[in-house]
Amino acid sequence: MALDAAPMADGFGRRFHYLRLSVTEVCNFSCTYCLPNGWKKTGPLSFLTVEEIGRLVAGFSGLGLSKVRLTGGEPTVRKDFNAIIQTVAAAPGVAKVAMTTNGWNLARHAVDWRASGLSHINVSIDSIDPETFHRITGHDKLNQVLTGLDLALAEGFSAVKVNAVLLRETAEAGFDGWARFVRDRPVAVRFIELMKTTDNDEYFARHHVKAQGLRDWLDQNGWTPAPRAFDAGPALEYRHPDHAGAIGLIAPYSPGFCDSCNRLRVTARGKLRLCLFGDGGVDLRDLLQDDDDRDLLVQRIVSSLGGKSAGHALALGRSGDLRNLAQLGG
Ligand code: 5AD
Ligand code: SF4
Repeated sequence: MALDAAPMADGFGRRFHYLRLSVTEVCNFSCTYCLPNGWKKTGPLSFLTVEEIGRLVAGFSGLGLSKVRLTGGEPTVRKDFNAIIQTVAAAPGVAKVAMTTNGWNLARHAVDWRASGLSHINVSIDSIDPETFHRITGHDKLNQVLTGLDLALAEGFSAVKVNAVLLRETAEAGFDGWARFVRDRPVAVRFIELMKTTDNDEYFARHHVKAQGLRDWLDQNGWTPAPRAFDAGPALEYRHPDHAGAIGLIAPYSPGFCDSCNRLRVTARGKLRLCLFGDGGVDLRDLLQDDDDRDLLVQRIVSSLGGKSAGHALALGRSGDLRNLAQLGG
């Protein structure tokens, strides 16, 4: 079989048609669990250029890539973000171009990003109480973010979803407000269990709550798990007959979480990262300087996949060398 036709798969039979590509480590928010003191410049800002991103995606595209998620940091702080979307959307086989954003400039740009080829948006909103939102993110911008979310919902994207990190204080505030939020909005709100990184040890100990409390609330309030698509990611979504939207959960500490892992990650500096909670990464950047290196790039990606482990070791308290999610993209 020609190398180009080989699907990306690892030693555990998982397929990887989905790439999460960080385009910057910079973020303009300072979420308490991620960048509590804001983003600080520690080295040169040598993030992948649009040309390098084009070559990277072309390499993965030959291996069956069909979906790319642009992450950061906050991906939309890049001035050339439109060009990045266009480049990724133009890669053969890439049918879905998604991004994860804190939503700060969604209202201003949703229309042009859609025109550039962006198809899916995840907006991070940890609380729909303006004060709590302000306290968590460091910015009093809930209204601005919600305006952007509603504009994106009206704009005809294939999907617009909300990510909310599940924190002790927001879990204790309960989920009734969120249920009202999705009553008329056709949006899935997915609660992500707080993940431990090397920077947030102490914070994690104080704020982490298990997803079980949310599961119990959903069961008791008439929400039922929606059937999962065969290629679904790790989110489990619940629906309710009276609500247009969905409520979901992503519980990385639950057993079996890694079995459905269908993603690879590349950092903003061009390292292939096989697991969010792994260590180090395989540098691809030297092979992104010349179109002629494409075969070498494909070979390096394929041989690296053999090193992807069956699962993370979070339950053993090992979370790899990840300092925070802004470093890598969630
Ligand atoms: N645990 C869980 N989710 C996190 N995010 C950032 N850091 C963490 C963490 N430590 C979330 C962001 C965003 C997504 C990319 O990941 O809030 O929604
Ligand atoms: Fe920025 Fe996202 Fe980290 Fe918040 S969680 S500081 S929005 S990268």
